[in-house]
Amino acid sequence: MIKTRIIYRCKECGHESMKWLGQCPSCFAWASYEESESVEQRSSLKRMEARPQAAVLVSAKEVIGDLDNKDFALKRRSTGFKLLDKVLGAGLLDGSLMLLGGPPGVGKSTLASHIAVSFASRGESGIYISGEEEVSQLGARLKRIGMQNSGNFKLASSLTIEQIVAQAREKTPNIMIIDSVQTITSSTLPYSMGSPTLLRSVTFELLRIAKELKIIVLLLGHVTKQGMIAGPKHLEHMVDVVVEMSKPRLEEYRIVRAIKNRFGSSNGLCVFSMTSAGLSEVADPSATFISKEWRDRLTKENARIGLANSIALEGGQAFLVQVEALSGKKKMSLGKRACLGMDRNRVEMILAVLEKTFSVNLETTDIFTSLIGGIKVRDPGIDLSLAASLASSLKEKPLPTDAVFLGELSLSGDILAPKDLQTRVRQAKDLGFNKIFHPTSKINSIDDFLKEVL
Ligand code: TYD
Ligand code: MG
Repeated sequence: MIKTRIIYRCKECGHESMKWLGQCPSCFAWASYEESESVEQRSSLKRMEARPQAAVLVSAKEVIGDLDNKDFALKRRSTGFKLLDKVLGAGLLDGSLMLLGGPPGVGKSTLASHIAVSFASRGESGIYISGEEEVSQLGARLKRIGMQNSGNFKLASSLTIEQIVAQAREKTPNIMIIDSVQTITSSTLPYSMGSPTLLRSVTFELLRIAKELKIIVLLLGHVTKQGMIAGPKHLEHMVDVVVEMSKPRLEEYRIVRAIKNRFGSSNGLCVFSMTSAGLSEVADPSATFISKEWRDRLTKENARIGLANSIALEGGQAFLVQVEALSGKKKMSLGKRACLGMDRNRVEMILAVLEKTFSVNLETTDIFTSLIGGIKVRDPGIDLSLAASLASSLKEKPLPTDAVFLGELSLSGDILAPKDLQTRVRQAKDLGFNKIFHPTSKINSIDDFLKEVL
């Protein structure tokens, strides 16, 4: 008798081992190992994935010619949301697979339904497949969101991957929405629903069908507590576009951020508000993270030490952010560091620049920094506000409440103009800020600058 050799895989990170382990050596999760496929099944799966085909070479001349021919060029299709289209690089591209991830209840099905409504309104065809809801529930949501011209749209509930592929081949819809990847089953693959191997196999199959039929596949996925789409990270590198939906601190808003995009930049975000009629785009997201009530409370007499305003720019949108810093001297031990909403390395770098510029030693100083409103910003254009808030906290002097700080900091202590300075300046003026600090020919080092404001 041939003995089958089982492979064990960690549910959390996908690490594999030939024997069961109590704790994963890769992500340190406990009791996370489960039986995945046997070595024998694995090699048959590999064979299936690899399906040998004769290599087809196409002449570059022909392809370039086709690009000019409207009938052949891949089309971009609007999601129905102007700002979201911009984040994706002018809409969804035919023949691409996009993964939309987020925690349960954040609004993924709602956003997908809006996209379906937009396709239907232009007479484009689609299939919405849900493994979580009945077709009557799907229909009710689509109706509520405003689907009228629904002739070209088909709904289905609980299909296997084999049925999904067959339906796609039969109908060749412009868009196929699958809600969600975790609920797809298979009638031929020997893996249980939601297991990492099945997720990987179905995603691969969907990617192939998207390319083959040149259709858009929108795949929804629940993010687990660890913050990874569909548990294992495996899916992100397979798909073309990864978009993540999250909730900032103010409940009615949703942030949609592109974290990977093979066909455009991947650092954009856009903001939606969730109402009883579904999602609507927020043109100026400043109020999303910082409430007006809070801004009104920060009067001249009421200025806070360690608080600095800046205008961040992500996804082509400029919006107000507020950086806070808190510092305190320790007598005996090394200082603690914590940063919320920004890259810790950047904060450490700015601290190093401040230490050098002012010849201070912050080794035994606790330093906490945070962005108000629970948003994450990667834009280096807010460096100067971070430096200003740290300096304000260290010197225990408040910064002017009607000031914004725009600038990127270099290791030498020079302040550089951030990308699209003029857009930021305009936004700051629109929001009522009078003092706009940015590098000029006179003030362009952190030293000059802090002398000026503190
Ligand atoms: P849903 O899209 O089902 O979330 P997900 O698919 O990510 O799990 O949306 C969940 C929440 O959104 C739910 O609490 C109800 C709310 N909602 C509205 O407020 N307005 C609407 O028009 C819709 C469709 C949902
Ligand atoms: Mg849902």
